[in-house]
Amino acid sequence: MLLHIPDVLTPAQVRACLDALAKAAWADGRITAGFQSAQVKHNRQVPEDHPVARAQGQVILAALERTPLFVAGALPQRVFPPLFNRYEGGESFGTHVDNAIRQARTPPMRVRTDLSATLFLSPPDSYDGGELVIEDRYGAHAAKLPAGHMLLYPASSLHHVRPVTRGARIAAFFWIQSMLRSDEQRTLLFDLDTAIQQLGRDVPDHAAVVQLTGVYHNLLRLWAEV
Ligand code: NI
Repeated sequence: MLLHIPDVLTPAQVRACLDALAKAAWADGRITAGFQSAQVKHNRQVPEDHPVARAQGQVILAALERTPLFVAGALPQRVFPPLFNRYEGGESFGTHVDNAIRQARTPPMRVRTDLSATLFLSPPDSYDGGELVIEDRYGAHAAKLPAGHMLLYPASSLHHVRPVTRGARIAAFFWIQSMLRSDEQRTLLFDLDTAIQQLGRDVPDHAAVVQLTGVYHNLLRLWAEV
């Protein structure tokens, strides 16, 4: 499932984040790449332990906790501390798949990457190219979202970032270990949750709302690893 999550950060938070990142040190993006992806990765990143990455990462983690669509779609168990990347002057990231396991340094934790997330920070009209393209069984899907919006997608999918031919594309990226390893199960529960929410709004007193809520939680109980 690909999920567009709007307004994870407010415009003021996006501005503050971009201002802080402007003062950060940028390193070769291959510092966090695996063997295959290092050969196709051309961008820059703020090193994981840089204070700006740590502070802005905390802002994003706090924002995610206040974003019901993220919680419903990801059913997060652990979130890797957000990293920040920058593409400009024709830089791109060729087709790759994300490493299955990531080791974070601060705090030390191992994350199985069930989901990948890209939180767009640069306004889309400030750069050309830079679309995130995700391939699934239905073809290739290109995303270039407004600043503060996030795309959540299966980390198991092949994906790439098209060359940035004007301006700079700055984004946060990170991975999520979900309570549900399977994208199929997560998608089923998300669809059920969405339908229950809608029923709860339209016919709040209907007995089926309680029964379906029970089905949701019983499926979660059956499938979740916590
Ligand atoms: Ni990737």
